[in-house]
Amino acid sequence: SHKAVIFDLDGVIVDTAKFHFQAWKKLANDLGFDFTHEQNEQLKGVSRVESLKKILKWGDMELSEEEFNRQMALKNDNYLSYVEEMDENEILPGVPKVLKYLKENNIPFALGSASKNARTILKKINLYEDFDAIVDGTDVSKAKPDPEVFLIAAEKLKAEPQDCVVFEDSVAGVEAANIGKMTSIGIGDEKVLQEADHIFNDFTEISIEFIENLLRKE
Ligand code: G6P
Ligand code: MG
Repeated sequence: SHKAVIFDLDGVIVDTAKFHFQAWKKLANDLGFDFTHEQNEQLKGVSRVESLKKILKWGDMELSEEEFNRQMALKNDNYLSYVEEMDENEILPGVPKVLKYLKENNIPFALGSASKNARTILKKINLYEDFDAIVDGTDVSKAKPDPEVFLIAAEKLKAEPQDCVVFEDSVAGVEAANIGKMTSIGIGDEKVLQEADHIFNDFTEISIEFIENLLRKE
């Protein structure tokens, strides 16, 4: 058996929460209510459909199915206008060093994201070719905290779940990794991600020694 690594995308490799915030805020404002940063925090790791359901609940609003789908498409178009401007500079500090280590040591790594825009984003930041497998919101039927996305990724990397290390910034994602019997590394606030096996504020706090120990073959 061999070790493998699975990365979430949004909030781990890039900070797209700021773009989601702008796009959801515009949708809310157009519908006549506000949308806060605190609410945006609660949408980390939450699918597009579930996010809009939550937002409408917060705005105390109901939409017909047709209008719901129209608003969701408008939001995504708006979000993609921000994504369009992305390039390698959007890769979060400390991430390239870890990816380089994995490559040099032939440790396979995959993407495990809820986003349906994941492939577009990876291409924009020039990492699309680097991943050994990509599993995203277009490949799964069950959302995090269901471990489906990570289990498919493990399978594609031909690794046992127990041999996988998952980097996640959302509570649902950490839970998904834990349920999948993988090692969970939380990236963000330790008060929020307390269920993770290890927690760091960001990748600059993660040393190569730590990664080495984590991936050491038992
Ligand atoms: C990630 C983000 C969420 C987003 C979801 C779906 O999990 O953290 O905020 O809602 O992906 O993204 P999408 O790009 O498909 O709208
Ligand atoms: Mg995330």
